[in-house]
Amino acid sequence: MDYKRLTKCRVCGNKDLKKYLDLGLQPLPNALFRYHKHVTKKYPLVVLFCNKCYLSQLSIIVKPNILYSDYPYHSSVSKTFQDHCYEMAIKVRDMLGFGDDMGKPLVVDIASNDGCLLNEFKRVGFTVIGVEPCKNLSDEANKKGISTVNEFWGDENVIPPSDIITATNVFAHVHDIVDFLKVCYKRLRVLTKGILVVEVPYLPNMIEGNQFDTIYHEHLSYFLLKPLMVVFRKCGLQIFKVERVPIHGGSIRVYASRSEFKREVESSVIETLEYEKKGGYYRFNTYKGFSKKVEKIRDNFVKLLEDIRDSGQTVLGYGASAKGAMLMNYCKLNKNHVSMVIDDTREKQYKYIPGCGICIGDFTQIRNKRPDYMVLFAWNFAKEIMEKTGEFRRLGGKYIVPIPSVKVL
Ligand code: TYD
Ligand code: ZN
Repeated sequence: MDYKRLTKCRVCGNKDLKKYLDLGLQPLPNALFRYHKHVTKKYPLVVLFCNKCYLSQLSIIVKPNILYSDYPYHSSVSKTFQDHCYEMAIKVRDMLGFGDDMGKPLVVDIASNDGCLLNEFKRVGFTVIGVEPCKNLSDEANKKGISTVNEFWGDENVIPPSDIITATNVFAHVHDIVDFLKVCYKRLRVLTKGILVVEVPYLPNMIEGNQFDTIYHEHLSYFLLKPLMVVFRKCGLQIFKVERVPIHGGSIRVYASRSEFKREVESSVIETLEYEKKGGYYRFNTYKGFSKKVEKIRDNFVKLLEDIRDSGQTVLGYGASAKGAMLMNYCKLNKNHVSMVIDDTREKQYKYIPGCGICIGDFTQIRNKRPDYMVLFAWNFAKEIMEKTGEFRRLGGKYIVPIPSVKVL
């Protein structure tokens, strides 16, 4: 079996989990294929709610070695993400207050991808080490001079005590979050009161922004601050500061230290908990309407693409993101709806999106194909992609943005 069922809440152990969204059988969105006729394996995609700690979570866990053996996602492709990493490095540096006696503090980044974040930390004066389970990515980072260990994050990693540990866009991918955090606890340097910085997509942004395409098998948990605090506390960690950051459609960045350091808890923590309570995120009823909204967006999107197809016009997509693959599959699209999806990631080009067999092309295909419309599947980077595709726009092309509601721009 290449997946297992979730039997209890991964934060609090509650067995009585309630379903609020069923997206049917879906392929693994990053499993790109070299041949379009490849038969893709599909897995149930169902979201459950825990009414004790309020964590939303998938009903199954696909084995990590199936999901992450050869991973095509490269953080550095997006300039927006690079800028985000730079902002984070500066903020953490200022928080730490570099002194002459500190030397170069050590940052360890978990699931460091191609070294995008560490590159920025290095630029602003840190020593850096990455831990990355995908061999293609750790090799690339090492080639760029970012020292990276090719492993999953775990107790057996031989890394020194760290002043800073970062985990951006990985925590939601982890099943055993207690184990993960316990290792973080052990690896935080005591002398400098080490800080753990975790960034995860924020559930209220997903619900309010109809971002159901961010639900796929890699994302096992959909976080609020409340369950994060519960599980951090369980592992001896105290969250002392929270920020909302715009990346990936809206995320929260939490800062934590070992509880025994007794850092002062900032007002942002209480304010965020109040925001969640007021928004109804601790009640199952709040989630019940989500499924209907999702179906409506799907129906509007498919209708628009079919009308365009029937009028003889053509459509390309931009961004062969995991969320794009999820949306294309959920809407059962094929190459008659979207003839090709452009992506600047070299490793993705001229492969096929699993499940729907749409080919991924490079940037030059926009000139070759001269489409009438372009779907922004990476809507979280809409501004950056629109800037890049100015010529398409000047020639009369129009953009289709599917999320939070289907719009033609
Ligand atoms: P992203 O939204 O980061 O992630 P996910 O896969 O988790 O849904 O994916 C964005 C995709 O868009 C990624 O494949 C890179 C691609 N992209 C480009 O090709 N060019 C660009 O200029 C930008 C910003 C993204
Ligand atoms: Zn729970």
